Amino acid sequence: MSSTAADAGTAAGLLRLGNQFCDAKALLTAVRLDLFGALQHGPASTEELRQRLGLHGRGLSDFLGLLAALGLLCRDADGRFRNAEGADRCLVPGRPGCVAGFLTGADVNLYPVYGRLTDAVRTGKPQADGDFTGMLDDPEALGGFVRMMDGLTQGLGGELSAVLEGIEYHSVLDAGGCRGHLLGQLLADHDGLTGQVFDLPQMEPFFHAYMAELGLSGRTSFHPGDFFRDPLPQADVIVLGHILHDWDAAQRQELLDKAYRAVSPGGTVLVYDRMLGRRADDTENLVASLNMLLVTEGGGEYSAEDVTEQARRAGFSSVTDRPLADFDTLVICRKG
Ligand SMILES: C[S@@+](CC[C@H](N)C(=O)[O-])C[C@H]1O[C@@H](n2cnc3c(N)ncnc32)[C@H](O)[C@@H]1O
Repeated sequence: MSSTAADAGTAAGLLRLGNQFCDAKALLTAVRLDLFGALQHGPASTEELRQRLGLHGRGLSDFLGLLAALGLLCRDADGRFRNAEGADRCLVPGRPGCVAGFLTGADVNLYPVYGRLTDAVRTGKPQADGDFTGMLDDPEALGGFVRMMDGLTQGLGGELSAVLEGIEYHSVLDAGGCRGHLLGQLLADHDGLTGQVFDLPQMEPFFHAYMAELGLSGRTSFHPGDFFRDPLPQADVIVLGHILHDWDAAQRQELLDKAYRAVSPGGTVLVYDRMLGRRADDTENLVASLNMLLVTEGGGEYSAEDVTEQARRAGFSSVTDRPLADFDTLVICRKG
């Protein structure tokens, strides 16, 4: 693992840092090939993996060796490879907590645009080939996006439910809640709770299929719409998760104003994003903010202070914040 550490104070460290995109691409490629899935039942030799994954063979032992050096695979004494503990837990498709869907989305959507970061920084313009609206009409691309969003909300439900403990609420609305991955987690903990997702109409089939899979169709509904054009449905708790960072400051204010109008009196709006300035190390969140530069017209991460001020302006009587999961900050806005 030590080979991954970069020391920005030495030439060797700077070369290492400058080449870290190669390490990232090796991981993303292994995920795309489903290498970790292929090793889920036990170790395999290089030749067995070549056959199983339908690969050429040239470069394969270097590729596997690099993944082992990065701590993703282990090499047994007989030379066979197996998944390292973390990779086995988090990169085998279908396992709870798997982040392979997110990494596949990163490979498809983010890796190419990072090649154009120079242009983005020079011009301030997004660099994605198509915009989000274009992807909405491509079911395969949209399916990939939906799985990527599942990865971003994995495990957040328990923490949000804990924050709401002691508060009486019967309905929850996830605005921009995609196919309902977070909603499913919130409902799993509360028998009497009903849930709604408000999202673009193209998400509706993904939502119904997923709610049926979770056995939650009877307690959930989908509201198709555009949150800049349509009012949000009323609910005791409204979630705006990884939404505000897609938009500029004026649009963020518009969405907070709308959430304030829609939430029940005495209700709560939960805002979470990879806000800046609240973590000891902001590296991950600064990268997330550059992602927004590359793929949105006006989005970017913002500080908890910025959104607190905007929430107060919207009318919320109490606004507090706290860390959420590894990188997010949660802002809890209460309506008096
Ligand atoms: C970055 S994802 C956030 C997903 C999830 N809430 C999370 O916490 O990760 C943004 C979501 O907002 C939805 N969205 C984007 N523009 C929208 C609009 N104008 N009206 C309603 N939903 C929209 C997208 O379809 C997507 O599901």
